Amino acid sequence: MSTLKSVQDKYTLSNGYKIPCLGLGTWQMEEGEQAAECVRQAIACGYRHIDTAAAYHNERGVGEGVRTCGVPREELFVTDKVWNSKRGYDKTKATFDKTMQRLGLDYLDLFLIHWPANAKQFSNWEEINVDTWRALTELYEQGRIKAIGVSNFKPHHLKALMECGVKPMVNQIEFHPGQLQEEIRDYCRRNGIQVEAYSPFGTGKILQNETLSAIASHYGKSTAQLCLRWSLQHDVIPLPKSVNPERMRQNTDIFDFEITPSDMKAIDEMPYIGGSGMDPDTVDW
Ligand code: A2P
Repeated sequence: MSTLKSVQDKYTLSNGYKIPCLGLGTWQMEEGEQAAECVRQAIACGYRHIDTAAAYHNERGVGEGVRTCGVPREELFVTDKVWNSKRGYDKTKATFDKTMQRLGLDYLDLFLIHWPANAKQFSNWEEINVDTWRALTELYEQGRIKAIGVSNFKPHHLKALMECGVKPMVNQIEFHPGQLQEEIRDYCRRNGIQVEAYSPFGTGKILQNETLSAIASHYGKSTAQLCLRWSLQHDVIPLPKSVNPERMRQNTDIFDFEITPSDMKAIDEMPYIGGSGMDPDTVDW
Protein backbone atom coordinates (compact mmCIF):
# COMPACT_ATOMS: atom_id res chain seq x y z
CA MET A 1 0.00 0.00 0.00
CA SER A 2 1.45 3.32 -1.05
CA THR A 3 1.45 5.90 1.74
CA LEU A 4 1.57 8.87 -0.66
CA LYS A 5 -1.46 11.14 -0.32
CA SER A 6 -0.88 14.00 -2.78
CA VAL A 7 1.45 15.38 -5.46
CA GLN A 8 3.08 17.42 -2.72
CA ASP A 9 4.18 14.37 -0.73
CA LYS A 10 7.90 13.77 -0.95
CA TYR A 11 10.59 11.13 -1.15
CA THR A 12 13.91 11.72 0.58
CA LEU A 13 17.00 11.50 -1.64
CA SER A 14 20.23 9.86 -0.48
CA ASN A 15 21.62 13.24 0.62
CA GLY A 16 18.51 13.99 2.73
CA TYR A 17 16.99 16.49 0.27
CA LYS A 18 13.27 16.06 -0.38
CA ILE A 19 11.67 15.63 -3.81
CA PRO A 20 7.91 15.76 -4.59
CA CYS A 21 6.54 12.40 -5.76
CA LEU A 22 5.16 13.68 -9.09
CA GLY A 23 6.35 16.49 -11.37
CA LEU A 24 5.29 18.38 -14.47
CA GLY A 25 7.24 17.39 -17.60
CA THR A 26 7.82 20.34 -19.96
CA TRP A 27 9.33 18.69 -23.05
CA GLN A 28 7.63 20.11 -26.16
CA MET A 29 6.21 23.10 -24.30
CA GLU A 30 6.86 26.26 -26.25
CA GLU A 31 9.33 28.83 -24.96
CA GLY A 32 7.84 32.03 -23.55
CA GLU A 33 4.22 32.54 -22.62
CA GLN A 34 3.07 28.94 -23.11
CA ALA A 35 5.72 27.46 -20.81
CA ALA A 36 5.25 30.23 -18.22
CA GLU A 37 1.46 29.85 -18.20
CA CYS A 38 1.61 26.02 -18.01
CA VAL A 39 3.98 26.22 -15.04
CA ARG A 40 1.69 28.72 -13.27
CA GLN A 41 -1.39 26.57 -14.01
CA ALA A 42 0.33 23.43 -12.77
CA ILE A 43 1.45 25.08 -9.55
CA ALA A 44 -2.06 26.48 -9.05
CA CYS A 45 -3.47 22.94 -9.24
CA GLY A 46 -0.98 21.58 -6.74
CA TYR A 47 2.22 20.64 -8.57
CA ARG A 48 5.40 21.60 -6.72
CA HIS A 49 7.90 19.91 -9.03
CA ILE A 50 8.79 21.16 -12.53
CA ASP A 51 11.16 19.37 -14.88
CA THR A 52 12.90 21.14 -17.75
CA ALA A 53 16.17 20.93 -19.72
CA ALA A 54 18.32 23.20 -21.85
CA ALA A 55 17.41 20.97 -24.79
CA TYR A 56 13.70 21.75 -24.38
CA HIS A 57 14.41 25.40 -25.28
CA ASN A 58 11.85 26.71 -22.80
CA GLU A 59 13.94 27.62 -19.75
CA ARG A 60 13.03 31.33 -19.93
CA GLY A 61 9.31 30.56 -19.85
CA VAL A 62 9.67 27.89 -17.18
CA GLY A 63 11.74 30.24 -15.02
CA GLU A 64 9.21 33.03 -15.46
CA GLY A 65 6.40 30.67 -14.42
CA VAL A 66 8.32 29.67 -11.30
CA ARG A 67 9.12 33.28 -10.41
CA THR A 68 5.59 34.61 -10.95
CA CYS A 69 3.41 31.75 -9.65
CA GLY A 70 2.93 33.19 -6.18
CA VAL A 71 4.31 30.15 -4.34
CA PRO A 72 7.63 30.76 -2.55
CA ARG A 73 10.67 29.42 -4.41
CA GLU A 74 11.69 27.17 -1.49
CA GLU A 75 8.38 25.29 -1.74
CA LEU A 76 9.09 24.41 -5.38
CA PHE A 77 11.39 21.80 -6.87
CA VAL A 78 13.02 22.70 -10.21
CA THR A 79 15.06 20.28 -12.31
CA ASP A 80 17.24 21.14 -15.32
CA LYS A 81 19.71 19.14 -17.43
CA VAL A 82 23.08 19.53 -19.19
CA TRP A 83 22.73 18.96 -22.91
CA ASN A 84 25.04 16.54 -24.76
CA SER A 85 27.04 19.20 -26.64
CA LYS A 86 28.04 20.71 -23.28
CA ARG A 87 29.57 17.62 -21.74
CA GLY A 88 32.98 17.88 -20.03
CA TYR A 89 34.10 19.86 -16.98
CA ASP A 90 34.55 23.39 -18.42
CA LYS A 91 31.60 23.35 -20.79
CA THR A 92 29.25 22.00 -18.13
CA LYS A 93 30.21 24.73 -15.69
CA ALA A 94 29.69 27.41 -18.34
CA THR A 95 26.37 25.96 -19.48
CA PHE A 96 25.10 25.85 -15.89
CA ASP A 97 25.61 29.64 -15.60
CA LYS A 98 23.69 30.17 -18.85
CA THR A 99 20.88 27.89 -17.69
CA MET A 100 20.57 29.84 -14.44
CA GLN A 101 20.52 33.14 -16.33
CA ARG A 102 17.74 31.90 -18.60
CA LEU A 103 15.74 30.54 -15.65
CA GLY A 104 16.36 33.69 -13.61
CA LEU A 105 16.77 31.59 -10.45
CA ASP A 106 19.45 31.60 -7.72
CA TYR A 107 19.70 27.84 -7.25
CA LEU A 108 18.48 24.60 -8.78
CA ASP A 109 16.95 21.73 -6.85
CA LEU A 110 18.23 19.09 -9.23
CA PHE A 111 20.67 19.15 -12.16
CA LEU A 112 21.06 16.06 -14.35
CA ILE A 113 23.40 14.86 -17.10
CA HIS A 114 20.76 14.51 -19.84
CA TRP A 115 22.31 11.53 -21.70
CA PRO A 116 25.47 9.52 -21.04
CA ALA A 117 28.32 9.79 -23.53
CA ASN A 118 28.23 6.29 -25.03
CA ALA A 119 30.71 3.83 -26.56
CA LYS A 120 29.14 4.16 -30.01
CA GLN A 121 30.21 7.80 -30.17
CA PHE A 122 33.35 8.05 -28.02
CA SER A 123 36.23 5.72 -27.15
CA ASN A 124 36.70 7.74 -23.91
CA TRP A 125 32.98 7.89 -23.08
CA GLU A 126 33.54 6.96 -19.45
CA GLU A 127 36.09 9.73 -18.93
CA ILE A 128 33.72 12.28 -20.52
CA ASN A 129 30.91 11.28 -18.15
CA VAL A 130 33.20 11.51 -15.12
CA ASP A 131 34.46 14.97 -16.22
CA THR A 132 30.88 16.20 -16.60
CA TRP A 133 30.03 14.69 -13.23
CA ARG A 134 32.98 16.49 -11.61
CA ALA A 135 31.47 19.83 -12.68
CA LEU A 136 28.07 18.89 -11.22
CA THR A 137 29.74 17.75 -8.00
CA GLU A 138 31.56 21.06 -7.64
CA LEU A 139 28.39 23.09 -8.22
CA TYR A 140 26.60 20.88 -5.69
CA GLU A 141 29.34 21.39 -3.11
CA GLN A 142 29.12 25.15 -3.67
CA GLY A 143 25.42 24.97 -2.80
CA ARG A 144 24.25 26.15 -6.24
CA ILE A 145 22.37 22.85 -6.76
CA LYS A 146 20.62 20.93 -3.96
CA ALA A 147 20.89 17.49 -5.56
CA ILE A 148 22.56 16.05 -8.66
CA GLY A 149 21.96 13.06 -10.87
CA VAL A 150 21.75 11.63 -14.34
CA SER A 151 19.23 10.72 -16.99
CA ASN A 152 19.14 7.77 -19.39
CA PHE A 153 22.05 6.08 -17.59
CA LYS A 154 22.19 2.27 -17.62
CA PRO A 155 24.18 0.43 -14.93
CA HIS A 156 27.34 0.32 -17.08
CA HIS A 157 27.15 4.11 -17.52
CA LEU A 158 26.56 4.62 -13.78
CA LYS A 159 29.41 2.41 -12.63
CA ALA A 160 32.22 5.01 -12.95
CA LEU A 161 30.14 7.70 -11.23
CA MET A 162 29.44 5.39 -8.30
CA GLU A 163 33.18 5.41 -7.63
CA CYS A 164 33.23 9.24 -7.31
CA GLY A 165 33.05 11.10 -3.98
CA VAL A 166 29.48 12.30 -4.55
CA LYS A 167 27.17 9.70 -6.06
CA PRO A 168 24.16 10.34 -8.28
CA MET A 169 20.98 10.84 -6.27
CA VAL A 170 18.52 10.52 -9.17
CA ASN A 171 18.29 8.70 -12.51
CA GLN A 172 15.55 9.91 -14.85
CA ILE A 173 14.65 7.25 -17.41
CA GLU A 174 11.86 6.42 -19.82
CA PHE A 175 9.44 4.28 -17.83
CA HIS A 176 5.87 3.29 -18.63
CA PRO A 177 3.82 0.14 -19.18
CA GLY A 178 5.65 -1.91 -21.80
CA GLN A 179 9.01 -0.43 -20.81
CA LEU A 180 9.74 -1.81 -17.37
CA GLN A 181 13.48 -1.04 -17.14
CA GLU A 182 13.96 -3.71 -14.48
CA GLU A 183 17.74 -3.87 -14.68
CA ILE A 184 18.17 -0.11 -14.24
CA ARG A 185 15.58 0.11 -11.45
CA ASP A 186 17.16 -2.80 -9.56
CA TYR A 187 20.59 -1.21 -9.82
CA CYS A 188 19.24 2.15 -8.66
CA ARG A 189 17.37 0.61 -5.74
CA ARG A 190 20.49 -1.20 -4.56
CA ASN A 191 22.54 1.99 -4.82
CA GLY A 192 20.13 4.47 -3.22
CA ILE A 193 19.33 6.28 -6.48
CA GLN A 194 15.77 7.61 -6.83
CA VAL A 195 14.26 6.79 -10.23
CA GLU A 196 12.10 9.27 -12.15
CA ALA A 197 9.97 8.46 -15.21
CA TYR A 198 9.95 10.64 -18.29
CA SER A 199 7.29 9.96 -20.91
CA PRO A 200 5.06 8.07 -18.45
CA PHE A 201 2.51 7.78 -21.28
CA GLY A 202 5.15 6.71 -23.82
CA THR A 203 4.90 10.26 -25.24
CA GLY A 204 1.14 9.65 -25.45
CA LYS A 205 1.48 6.54 -27.66
CA ILE A 206 0.30 4.00 -25.08
CA LEU A 207 -2.88 5.81 -24.05
CA GLN A 208 -5.01 4.05 -26.67
CA ASN A 209 -3.99 0.58 -25.51
CA GLU A 210 -7.06 -1.59 -24.88
CA THR A 211 -5.60 -3.71 -22.08
CA LEU A 212 -4.66 -0.60 -20.14
CA SER A 213 -8.03 1.09 -20.71
CA ALA A 214 -9.86 -2.05 -19.56
CA ILE A 215 -7.84 -2.18 -16.32
CA ALA A 216 -8.26 1.59 -15.80
CA SER A 217 -12.03 1.37 -16.16
CA HIS A 218 -12.21 -1.11 -13.21
CA TYR A 219 -10.95 1.70 -11.01
CA GLY A 220 -13.08 4.41 -12.66
CA LYS A 221 -9.87 6.08 -13.84
CA SER A 222 -8.40 7.12 -17.19
CA THR A 223 -5.56 5.19 -18.82
CA ALA A 224 -3.28 8.15 -18.09
CA GLN A 225 -4.14 7.99 -14.39
CA LEU A 226 -3.53 4.23 -14.36
CA CYS A 227 -0.05 4.72 -15.87
CA LEU A 228 0.85 7.35 -13.26
CA ARG A 229 -0.47 5.28 -10.36
CA TRP A 230 1.46 2.24 -11.64
CA SER A 231 4.63 4.35 -11.64
CA LEU A 232 4.01 5.56 -8.06
CA GLN A 233 3.43 1.98 -6.89
CA HIS A 234 6.87 1.15 -8.33
CA ASP A 235 8.33 4.09 -6.29
CA VAL A 236 9.18 5.89 -9.52
CA ILE A 237 8.43 9.62 -9.77
CA PRO A 238 6.34 10.23 -12.90
CA LEU A 239 6.82 13.45 -14.89
CA PRO A 240 3.71 13.68 -17.10
CA LYS A 241 3.66 16.49 -19.62
CA SER A 242 0.47 18.36 -20.38
CA VAL A 243 -0.30 21.84 -21.63
CA ASN A 244 -3.96 21.40 -20.81
CA PRO A 245 -5.13 22.50 -17.32
CA GLU A 246 -7.88 19.86 -17.19
CA ARG A 247 -5.45 17.04 -18.04
CA MET A 248 -2.84 18.49 -15.65
CA ARG A 249 -5.43 18.29 -12.88
CA GLN A 250 -6.52 14.79 -13.92
CA ASN A 251 -2.86 13.71 -13.72
CA THR A 252 -2.75 14.69 -10.03
CA ASP A 253 -5.94 12.80 -9.15
CA ILE A 254 -4.24 9.45 -8.59
CA PHE A 255 -4.04 9.21 -4.81
CA ASP A 256 -7.48 7.77 -4.09
CA PHE A 257 -7.03 4.30 -5.55
CA GLU A 258 -4.60 1.39 -5.31
CA ILE A 259 -3.81 -0.96 -8.20
CA THR A 260 -4.10 -4.56 -6.97
CA PRO A 261 -1.03 -6.81 -7.01
CA SER A 262 -2.56 -8.91 -9.81
CA ASP A 263 -3.26 -5.86 -11.98
CA MET A 264 0.27 -4.56 -11.25
CA LYS A 265 1.62 -7.92 -12.44
CA ALA A 266 -0.58 -7.87 -15.57
CA ILE A 267 0.71 -4.38 -16.45
CA ASP A 268 4.33 -5.33 -15.67
CA GLU A 269 4.07 -8.26 -18.04
CA MET A 270 2.78 -6.25 -21.00
CA PRO A 271 4.95 -6.30 -24.13
CA TYR A 272 6.38 -3.12 -25.64
CA ILE A 273 3.45 -1.06 -26.89
CA GLY A 274 5.21 2.15 -27.91
CA GLY A 275 7.36 4.91 -26.54
CA SER A 276 10.18 7.14 -27.67
CA GLY A 277 12.19 4.27 -29.14
CA MET A 278 15.48 5.82 -27.95
CA ASP A 279 18.28 3.65 -26.53
CA PRO A 280 21.11 5.41 -24.60
CA ASP A 281 23.67 3.01 -26.11
CA THR A 282 22.71 3.67 -29.71
CA VAL A 283 21.58 7.30 -29.91
CA ASP A 284 24.17 9.33 -31.74
CA TRP A 285 23.54 12.84 -30.56
P1 A2P B 1 -1.40 17.56 -23.83
O1 A2P B 1 -0.10 18.28 -23.51
O2 A2P B 1 -2.15 18.21 -24.94
O3 A2P B 1 -2.24 17.30 -22.61
P2 A2P B 1 4.34 11.95 -22.00
O4 A2P B 1 4.23 12.64 -20.69
O5 A2P B 1 4.44 10.46 -21.92
O6 A2P B 1 5.47 12.53 -22.84
O7 A2P B 1 2.99 12.22 -22.82
C1 A2P B 1 2.61 13.53 -23.17
C2 A2P B 1 1.43 13.45 -24.10
O8 A2P B 1 0.28 12.95 -23.40
C3 A2P B 1 1.06 14.82 -24.62
O9 A2P B 1 0.64 14.67 -25.96
C4 A2P B 1 -0.12 15.24 -23.72
O10 A2P B 1 -0.98 16.12 -24.42
C5 A2P B 1 -0.79 13.91 -23.45
N1 A2P B 1 -1.49 13.87 -22.15
C6 A2P B 1 -1.06 14.35 -20.96
N2 A2P B 1 -1.92 14.06 -19.97
C7 A2P B 1 -2.96 13.39 -20.55
C8 A2P B 1 -4.18 12.82 -20.06
N3 A2P B 1 -4.49 12.87 -18.78
N4 A2P B 1 -4.97 12.20 -20.96
C9 A2P B 1 -4.66 12.14 -22.27
N5 A2P B 1 -3.53 12.64 -22.79
C10 A2P B 1 -2.67 13.26 -21.94
